[in-house]
Amino acid sequence: MEKLILMLLATVANVISSPLITLQELQNQQQNKAKFCSSLLHFNKYYYSPGESIAINGYPADMSVHWQTGNIYYTLINNEMKMNLQVLHSSGDFETIKVVGLGQSSTVDNLNDIVYLATDNGVYKYNDDGTTERYAALNEDVMYLTVSHDGSVMYIATWPQNRVHKITNEGQKQETFSPIPNGHGLTTDTRDNIFFIATKTSYVLKNDQTVPIKIKGLPNERMTGVFVSRSDEVFAMDDNSNLYTIDVENDSANLLGSFNVTDVNTFAMDAADNVLIGVKGRILKFNAYDRNPCEETYDS
Ligand SMILES: *[C@@H]1O[C@H](CO)[C@@H](O)[C@H](O)[C@H]1NC(C)=O
Ligand SMILES: *[C@@H]1O[C@H](CO)[C@@H](O)[C@H](O)[C@H]1NC(C)=O
Repeated sequence: MEKLILMLLATVANVISSPLITLQELQNQQQNKAKFCSSLLHFNKYYYSPGESIAINGYPADMSVHWQTGNIYYTLINNEMKMNLQVLHSSGDFETIKVVGLGQSSTVDNLNDIVYLATDNGVYKYNDDGTTERYAALNEDVMYLTVSHDGSVMYIATWPQNRVHKITNEGQKQETFSPIPNGHGLTTDTRDNIFFIATKTSYVLKNDQTVPIKIKGLPNERMTGVFVSRSDEVFAMDDNSNLYTIDVENDSANLLGSFNVTDVNTFAMDAADNVLIGVKGRILKFNAYDRNPCEETYDS
């Protein structure tokens, strides 16, 4: 027993580089570790553990992540149902993005490192120094937007009917996009397939096709949206935090597992595939591990 404790002490001391640790502290650490290990989830080739729970003042919607900076962008809908755009910096600081008019959603072009803002007064680019510049769709009430993989084509959905328009020529040319008459939750994958929700149903418009297809295997009504991970995989999540992978080849979704969170409003993944889940008053982070973090060190 004594020997075991000494060995454990040595291990812990290595980690925290302090030899001054009491037995009580050691027991606490072991309890934390046991709690951590018993709460691990395992699906989608990852082990997930519940991480930070970040308090925010309202409902987060339309989350996206800038891979390079780790900044998380979302629409905050407060208790009076007013919206504004926020960025949660990787440092943990929040910032409300100042726009002319009303900020309604945002999207990140991760290839070109550009953040676009949809406002009731057109589309803006958001710069790292906090300034914004007018980009496209002047005088349009833009609710949602997404950009093609190379960033050259933008699709917007406008109020009140979520009519979809295509914008090209550096924001100069705008036309009605007839393959998707209306939709929200617009998302584009790296092959320029476009995902959207219309009449509470999830669809994909495949690149080079003109008729959207209903995605099989997703529940109607309860989808929070589609998110394309940094490794180009397409995921969807319903409001019970069931995570699905979407295979565009056969227009089908497969259920991977659940994070056991209810009333999900939005989700996203950061550059390391850690999962962010937005619920009322919180953004919950689930850390992703390639290997079981409890396997090597926790043998009884
Ligand atoms: C679609 O393709 C994926 C990958 O090949 C497969 O796992 C899934 O079972 C297929 N789904 C259907 C409904 O055929
Ligand atoms: C899911 O959440 C409920 C309520 O918080 C909890 O009782 C249950 O143990 C959780 N299940 C898993 C598999 O984590």
